[in-house]
Amino acid sequence: MLKSIAVMTSGGDSPGMNAAVRAVTRTALHQGVKVWGIRGGYHGMLDEDMFEMQSKDVGDIIQRGGTFLGTARCRRFTTPEGRMLGYKNLVDRGIQGLVVVGGDGSLRGASTLSQETGLPIVGLPGTIDNDVWGSEYTIGCDTAANTIIDAMNKLRDTASAHRRIIVLEVMGRNSGWLAMVAGISGGAEYILVPEEPFDLEEICENMKAEYEKGKRYILMVVAEGAGKASDIGPIIAEKTGIDTRISKLGHIQRGGSPSVIDRVNASRLGEHAALAIISGLSDIVFGFNRGHVVSINLHDAVNNKKTLDPQLMRLAKVLA
Ligand code: F6P
Repeated sequence: MLKSIAVMTSGGDSPGMNAAVRAVTRTALHQGVKVWGIRGGYHGMLDEDMFEMQSKDVGDIIQRGGTFLGTARCRRFTTPEGRMLGYKNLVDRGIQGLVVVGGDGSLRGASTLSQETGLPIVGLPGTIDNDVWGSEYTIGCDTAANTIIDAMNKLRDTASAHRRIIVLEVMGRNSGWLAMVAGISGGAEYILVPEEPFDLEEICENMKAEYEKGKRYILMVVAEGAGKASDIGPIIAEKTGIDTRISKLGHIQRGGSPSVIDRVNASRLGEHAALAIISGLSDIVFGFNRGHVVSINLHDAVNNKKTLDPQLMRLAKVLA
């Protein structure tokens, strides 16, 4: 059984990361294990920016978006020298295991660190993109999807008032999950995702036909991995002759107070991560499958690409 562990957040922040860190910390303290918080992602590990946490250090954070520990994308950690320095800094403090909350790239760094040094590492999927293989859920994806549909509700009002087409670009990196679930729940007529080819000419023809039949407005959601609203919007305007506007939500969709789902799921994942790392387990990621917490091999999680549920893509077409 380990006596001292560390926890950190890395990569793009996501709502619910605080709940995960809180759960890791309080579970470990409950087991009589020391917990260190690493600030600023892998930067903090390299720059020795870490502190031993008490229960009160994770108070008043569960309702906050972002991550109170701070986060970063760290280039230095992608080198073997950087990782060895990070490892040494942990060992110097008696830290015997690490919990990393982050997306694809952060978990990949964690996997390499564990392979090179033997340091026990447990990962938690923290990203709004919901693109970590082996888990149907990543911390923050629910809040981000809710933020997007809130924006869509507002865009619908103005699109309808002006009889316009509005093209909304959302995040997701190479994944269309956010666009797909927000598009379905926000009632978008068109959803463009990187996982599925689309024919813009054909879409424009359909849009024109729909307007001729009396349609008042159209909402299109574009995943950033499928294209830019600033490229697609003008093409639609030109080909349809319909007044078209674009909107890019950007980092607004990364922030905000986490939803109930993100708070509860992150808390459940955090508890599992703490108990696992304390008991000496390593190289696993905890995620969800059919609503249950499952452990996924860390190597598999970072070396496989998650696909978009074909049932969602089918449903989007039926409901549009
Ligand atoms: O991975 C999360 C994410 O928000 C992606 O959806 C987006 O492509 C990227 O991070 C943006 O990164 P940054 O905040 O570094 O601009």
